[in-house]
Amino acid sequence: MKGATERRELLKAVYEQAHGCVRCPLHQTRTTVVFGAGNADAELMFIGEAPGATEDRMGLPFVGQAGKLLDKLLQEIGMQRQDVFVANVIKCRPPDNRDPHPREIESCQGYLRRQVDLIEPSVICTLGNFSTKLLRADTTAISRLHGRDEVRVIGTRAVRLYPLYHPAAALYASSTLELLRADFHRIPEVLALGVPEQPEPPKPPEPIEPPDRDALSEDRDALSDDRDALSEDREELSENRKARGAAQSQAPAPPAGDREPAAQLGLF
Ligand code: URA
Repeated sequence: MKGATERRELLKAVYEQAHGCVRCPLHQTRTTVVFGAGNADAELMFIGEAPGATEDRMGLPFVGQAGKLLDKLLQEIGMQRQDVFVANVIKCRPPDNRDPHPREIESCQGYLRRQVDLIEPSVICTLGNFSTKLLRADTTAISRLHGRDEVRVIGTRAVRLYPLYHPAAALYASSTLELLRADFHRIPEVLALGVPEQPEPPKPPEPIEPPDRDALSEDRDALSDDRDALSEDREELSENRKARGAAQSQAPAPPAGDREPAAQLGLF
């Protein structure tokens, strides 16, 4: 288990890496890399889709209208931004707020996985379709999954995944806002379930024993005896062939059906 300071330092190192990232063409159009922000030691993480125009300008996630709604909902459950960590699937703004392309998600997902690995949250709220589909490795839509917590292994750790509608979707449809709010109000209940049971850590490889010299020497002797026996067998075989050749040249060949099976195949 990492301490808060260690987590923060490790996260900073990933931030430095992401900061100069040129892994996909979005680096050409971004203003800043929006790495994510909040408490590196948080139990609860939110994962959105991609930065919008305000986020791109300020370098922080969810600071536009959708972010204001997120703050309000957090407040309703007695939490604030500094209690949680907020990140996105994509760290750079797609031009004109278009959907992220699969190749952009692919090139960026290492940063998100590293964030989850280092923060070790017990609950992850995915916001909307993109983060839900990515973390569940499945195409089931948010409309079928929202508000249902499930234990999922992400990287090496089990977390409680709790999909929610994206706050941006709730800005335009009051019915979606009501669903988001109802699901959001269940977050304390999901957090109270605690850290899920963790999978067995992978076993370290068996140490390689140094060779047993005595056994090795016995094996060598046995091999040498086998060679001698083989050489004797060969000699005997050669004698037998010669004898058989002489006998066959005197006796007529038996009909094909009466011959030894191997002889029928022409092996001798
Ligand atoms: N929408 C997102 O998905 N992320 C942000 O950071 C802002 C809006």
